[in-house]
Amino acid sequence: MKYTILVNKNNPIKTNYLNKVNLIEIKNVFDETIKIEAETYKNYLELEKHLKEKGIVIGIDSAYRSFADQENLIKEFENKYGKEYTDKTVARVGESEHHTGLAIDLVVKVNNEWLEPNDKQEKTESILKEVHKYLHNYGFILRYPKEKESITSYDYESWHIRYVGKVPAKIIYEEKLTLEEYLKDFSGVLYINKQKGITSFDVVNEISHLFGIKRVGHTGTLDPLAEGVLIIAIGKATKIVELLTAEDKEYIAGVKLGFKTDTYDIEGKVLARKEVPCNINVEEVLKSFQKTYLQEVPIYSAVKVNGKKLYDYARENKEVKLPKKEVTIKEIELLEQKENSFIFKSLVTKGCYIRSLINDIGKSLNTYATMTSLIRTKQGEVKLEDTNTFEDIKNNNYRIYKIEEVLSYPEVIVSEELAFKISNGVEIEDKWQIKDKVIFKDKKNNLLAIYQKIDESLVTWKGFL
Ligand code: DAL
Ligand code: ZN
Repeated sequence: MKYTILVNKNNPIKTNYLNKVNLIEIKNVFDETIKIEAETYKNYLELEKHLKEKGIVIGIDSAYRSFADQENLIKEFENKYGKEYTDKTVARVGESEHHTGLAIDLVVKVNNEWLEPNDKQEKTESILKEVHKYLHNYGFILRYPKEKESITSYDYESWHIRYVGKVPAKIIYEEKLTLEEYLKDFSGVLYINKQKGITSFDVVNEISHLFGIKRVGHTGTLDPLAEGVLIIAIGKATKIVELLTAEDKEYIAGVKLGFKTDTYDIEGKVLARKEVPCNINVEEVLKSFQKTYLQEVPIYSAVKVNGKKLYDYARENKEVKLPKKEVTIKEIELLEQKENSFIFKSLVTKGCYIRSLINDIGKSLNTYATMTSLIRTKQGEVKLEDTNTFEDIKNNNYRIYKIEEVLSYPEVIVSEELAFKISNGVEIEDKWQIKDKVIFKDKKNNLLAIYQKIDESLVTWKGFL
């Protein structure tokens, strides 16, 4: 279920969403049977309970509305308040987010009487203002805030709340956004601690679900067997993933000696066994790998040869010459050794396969070596301690970094005139003696573009508008 679905004047609801939404029947405060989306109701009840403890009594007037319900409402409003007011307050049929079941029109109880805020604005305003402060803790937002009328295209509605999920709700509340702005502009970089057993793509999907944002990407794939630092980019930050990947990485890997598998790791098929010589000096052999060398890419990898991925050759049992890539093992250290297994830590350059390194170490030890575990403890400057888990995010206890925060390029705030040129990708003169790249921002601190120095001038590398 996508709780951040956008339904407005430009985005009418789609029938496939209507077919998927899980509606339940409840009674509103006027004892009428109405429908609401299940998760929305669950969170609403918690909000209601919390507010009751604070002495504020809220209730539901309307939640899900069918097309026919919306049509009746339009008629009722037109009779009562006239067409102009109705247009600014009630959505046209098909364009109301009440069709999703995720929107609620609140009423408040004062002196034992239910007050409809639409009629009794003066009396309900101060109470609802207090309510607005707690909405995000339960995954709701005030959908049509003051001073955002030009974006939402509706007048301020103190009573209309919308369930979007706790992660987006907090961001929208704290950054004073509308749902429209959040979906269009929200971006950032997350440092995730990937757990064992899931793919990097599973992480992307979960983050996309938690933030309710489609555009999510990752850098430096970690296999299901591997865990640790995985850098995730959300929204426009997906444009800079290549800059985040081009960094050294540190790993702690587990190794078992005496057999080799097709994948070079413990999850593969055992291909051969070889006795482990006694008196092996693992520490010494590891140290001998602290060098730059041509490493053969493992067959179970996504590297392409003649347009085809290597693991496809492996699956089809086809011969292929494995390419070699220059890698540098900057640091390597034995952490633990037990009989025929050991654990080591290593800092390597981009493109180095730890499985291949282990395979090569096996050869130097005159036996076979297979990877049994892998933890990425560092990518560039990002350490395991800097990462968050899915749980941290669900609990809204995480850090997300702005694009400019994760890059170490100089930042320049430009005049309106230059900002216009930059947002249109115009080549500009380098007045700042830029070495490689530069981040341009406008006076409101909005990220405009990253420019790159080519010859003596600056040209667009990535635009963000
Ligand atoms: N009152 C909101 C805009 C609706 O009718 O959906
Ligand atoms: Zn409403």
